[in-house]
Amino acid sequence: MTPFRLTRLLPKDATGADLRADVRHGLTSTPKTLPPKWFYDAHGSELFKKITELAVYYPTRAEDEILAASAAEIAAETGARTLVELGSGAYSEKTRHLLDALPGLHTYVPVDVSESALRQAGQALLVERPFLRVHAMIADFTGTLVLPETPGPRLVAFLGSTIGNLLPAERAVFLASVRDLLAPGDCLLLGTDLVKDPSVLVAAYDNAPTSDFNKNVLSVINRELGADFDLDAFDHAVLWDVAQEWIEMRLRSRTEQTVKIPALDLAVDFAEGEELRTEISAKFRLPSLVNELSSCGLELSHWFTTPAAQFGLALASPSL
Ligand code: SAH
Ligand code: TRP
Repeated sequence: MTPFRLTRLLPKDATGADLRADVRHGLTSTPKTLPPKWFYDAHGSELFKKITELAVYYPTRAEDEILAASAAEIAAETGARTLVELGSGAYSEKTRHLLDALPGLHTYVPVDVSESALRQAGQALLVERPFLRVHAMIADFTGTLVLPETPGPRLVAFLGSTIGNLLPAERAVFLASVRDLLAPGDCLLLGTDLVKDPSVLVAAYDNAPTSDFNKNVLSVINRELGADFDLDAFDHAVLWDVAQEWIEMRLRSRTEQTVKIPALDLAVDFAEGEELRTEISAKFRLPSLVNELSSCGLELSHWFTTPAAQFGLALASPSL
């Protein structure tokens, strides 16, 4: 079995310092917000897995179906020798279609903020595929990424519509930085959930496992920063923002309450009914996606969808 390589691009205490800065900023802003990357501790990753198995949560199955049907074409078009996956998570399940389809694959580079997720996925893959080289990177994909020296061409996959969890301005910065990672001949494979009937969209997020997942961010803050959030004092709230075309997840305070966060020396007041925004999940349309890509120097070369157009996979390359 090839050894599992793990490179840390974030300093060891970065998560702590970053979390403190994000929580202080988000909980002292009006309205209150928290950024999405703090959902996924080991428990959060398990809860997310449960979400992906729900009948109402169609994106994972739809993307899996597209990858199963299109991996060979993607492989032939890209000829990738290195597969980089951003926000790869604890399972890299859908990724297996790409790993299987790429005959000349040299190295798989999963990138995630979560070390536990990278170890879990990497070790499972190496047991199954003893000849695969796995070089995992602990890194924040919204920051500067330095990839390991591996043979090209590279295919950079960003699946699960995780792109939709970034705000539009963050998305533009992110896409431009991905563009800068790509040499001629390299490609980006981007998973995007598509605009559809709002009742279908809301049902995918308004359910008990997603409520547990949403509240898990409060458990993370309790554990890491010694806070005293009472998870039962908040309700999970989901709404479809028609103008922005995104799902918004919030935590609504059931009562007037004050939460103490000792590590920040901070007390946060919540009014009864006050909402804290924890996550957006933007939904896409092909024409605006093409514009977004092209304004970041990326040109769409292929668009793969399910027959019912629930979800789309965009293959793009650097514009000449
Ligand atoms: N790609 C998988 C998992 C999606 S969950 C799928 O499609 O099912 C999103 C993953 O992105 C989590 O593992 C989370 O830890 C990671 N993540 C979220 N924000 C991140 C960031 N800023 N930098 C790196 N990884 C991040
Ligand atoms: N990228 C996924 C999505 O937007 C992540 C996700 C699914 C998620 N369910 C969630 C994020 C609930 C936060 C809360 O669908």
